[in-house]
Amino acid sequence: MSVTVVIGAQWGDEGKAKVIDYLSEKIDIIARYQGGANAGHTVVVDQKKFIFHLIPSGILYPNTICVIGNGVVVDPDVLISEMENLKKENIQIENRIFISDASHIVLPFHKIIDEHKEKQAENHKIGTTKRGIGICYADKMLRIGIRIGDLFYQLESKLSNLVNLKNKELELLYHLKPLDYEKIYIDLIDFRKKIESMVIHTPSFFEASIKQGKTVLLEGAQGTALDIDHGTYPYVTSSNTTIGGALSGTGISYRHIENVYGICKAYVTRVGEGPFPTELKGEEGNRLRELGAEYGATTGRPRRCGWFDVELIKHSGRINGLTGLVLTKVDVLSYFETIPVCVGYEFFGKKIDYFPSYGLEDCIPIYEYLPGWKEDISRINRWSELPKNCKTYIEKIQEWTNIPIKFVSIGPGRDQTLML
Ligand code: IMP
Repeated sequence: MSVTVVIGAQWGDEGKAKVIDYLSEKIDIIARYQGGANAGHTVVVDQKKFIFHLIPSGILYPNTICVIGNGVVVDPDVLISEMENLKKENIQIENRIFISDASHIVLPFHKIIDEHKEKQAENHKIGTTKRGIGICYADKMLRIGIRIGDLFYQLESKLSNLVNLKNKELELLYHLKPLDYEKIYIDLIDFRKKIESMVIHTPSFFEASIKQGKTVLLEGAQGTALDIDHGTYPYVTSSNTTIGGALSGTGISYRHIENVYGICKAYVTRVGEGPFPTELKGEEGNRLRELGAEYGATTGRPRRCGWFDVELIKHSGRINGLTGLVLTKVDVLSYFETIPVCVGYEFFGKKIDYFPSYGLEDCIPIYEYLPGWKEDISRINRWSELPKNCKTYIEKIQEWTNIPIKFVSIGPGRDQTLML
């Protein structure tokens, strides 16, 4: 059993990349399993900030292998520019990045349609990242998408069918000019040349690697509450962000999974539309946003902020079989007098103790109030040095969620991590 999965336990942006970077030191292979360039995974090393949208954040260790799994939707422009940026930083990428031949490709019309669909949605906007993610996954489900493997086999006929169809959609639904098939085709051939040596059959690659005793880390993008099935539908992303997606998005058998870590902030944030019971709309929300620098890594949008929600984490624990939690950005909560924690909801006068599939917008949080602490904790080296109230806050979260907290993060740097 050699596979660890890292999953966002909230609405994304939980600090997964920092945790993945921290764990990657002892890992051989790091793989993304779903999502695409909608993700923005930020890692800070020696005060230098790296943001990854497609390449697994474990690339910053020199001996890791990074894999883009079949469940990921790959935007060629983003992938190539990320590889170029790594080269500029003198990070060796040859023989270190591999891409599944079954990953779907995000094409120019996916992004255009994503943007225009949102514009036309009026009251039903999702607040997508406009990276074409949902539209590309929709084509995958319709069985008309273009996969990486198609670049090597019968590309012309598949692509021309799709471009014809999408051009009709652009013209009729969005009153836009059709796209030039030739340009899309030539760009894809150029992309093929650049990635040819990186394309692999991921299920057999993982099977062989695991047999050889290699350790694997599966890097989730977004979070549990954005899962297409288990999230706040329709205000979700278009993939399975949870454990099922980790298996189907790589082709690794469930039998190899050893640890499933849920990453959660010590408070909650969300970008885009959709219900968020503990959201703080006034001054306190602004304070959390500024203290936590809560602006999207992909779109720069201000994130909505609110108090920790135990029901949400229990939901994530239940679905993902979380073996541990990592609590991030605990330092951001320093200096709050009292810190409310949501321990359940009231739904039309009735108490509910689960994260509901519908009606979350009408759930009123039931809070417990914990005393805050007045010290900067970002430079502390040991758990024992944390202020008493901070320890109580962490221990209470562990007690209420009933999931062991493995470590806590008190700042963006690799060294700002405390084992429990
Ligand atoms: P899409 O994934 O671009 O289709 O966007 C669907 C929803 O997921 C929107 O609410 C986005 O803000 C949200 N979302 C997508 N990717 C991320 C992410 O990496 N972090 C946080 N929210 C995300």
